[in-house]
Amino acid sequence: MTQFFTEDGSAETVNARMGEDIDPRVSEVMACLVKHLHAFAKEIDLTQEEWEVGIDFLTRAGKLCSDERQEFILLSDVLGFSMLVDAINNRRPVGATENTVFGPFHVAGAPERNMGEVISLDGKGESCLFEGRVIDLHGKPVEGARIDVWCDNADGFYDVQQPDIQPKWNNRGIFTTEKDGTYSFIGIKPVSYPIPDDGPVGKMLAALGRHPYRPAHMHFLVTAPGFQKLVTHTFVGDDPYITSDTVFGVKQTLVAPFEHVNDGRTIWRSPFDFVLTPVEQNG
Ligand code: BEZ
Ligand code: FE
Repeated sequence: MTQFFTEDGSAETVNARMGEDIDPRVSEVMACLVKHLHAFAKEIDLTQEEWEVGIDFLTRAGKLCSDERQEFILLSDVLGFSMLVDAINNRRPVGATENTVFGPFHVAGAPERNMGEVISLDGKGESCLFEGRVIDLHGKPVEGARIDVWCDNADGFYDVQQPDIQPKWNNRGIFTTEKDGTYSFIGIKPVSYPIPDDGPVGKMLAALGRHPYRPAHMHFLVTAPGFQKLVTHTFVGDDPYITSDTVFGVKQTLVAPFEHVNDGRTIWRSPFDFVLTPVEQNG
């Protein structure tokens, strides 16, 4: 191999420049990235103009990033990359509740609430009782599990997207299980909503003939001592976007029942058990 650049040996020449005393993982990751990046350009015969479009896209995405907006994570989400990384890092045994994307709308420090409390504070939407148990792989109740929940309101916006319109902590709360592992709270039946699509990622979706919608879901972050952190959602099965989630977050096992009860307390009931995986166990 020559140390001068040629089309054929491009990736090898770049990778040969790496120093010797560098972190082995950095070396492995970067060498593989360069290899696939160069192979990508060769496979599609990337034109100069296309390269410029790509650079412009990344520039616009970077300029949009702030403490409130992360366009690169959104890009990773709509390319299925976030779900792939999540899958690689959360291989679980059969029967354990599956992970899905975290998303940008979690806010740490939501109010701790009592079981059965109402989390929907804006009076909008169709009320829904969420209830079930947090259990281990043997069906034993998990005591002291913290269940952090969040979802959009009936207009399809999270409270943080409408700070001047929605009450603070609307559709959010943290619940802690007792000995029997049960949980319950009253929220609303979630509705589908578009991810932020006013930036370059939204433009890219439009250019690809893709919609920006996520099917209706309730977010859950479940943590308990001795168990793996569970980041997941439950989904409304009859949502029109259930098979075309723009961030690929739906898994069959996470589609939950939403039963029409109308029992004087709530309109809907959604039962779902969370099965936690011990810290050291993988699938
Ligand atoms: C969400 O479900 O909150 C979400 C996930 C990924 C991108 C945008 C929103
Ligand atoms: Fe969401």
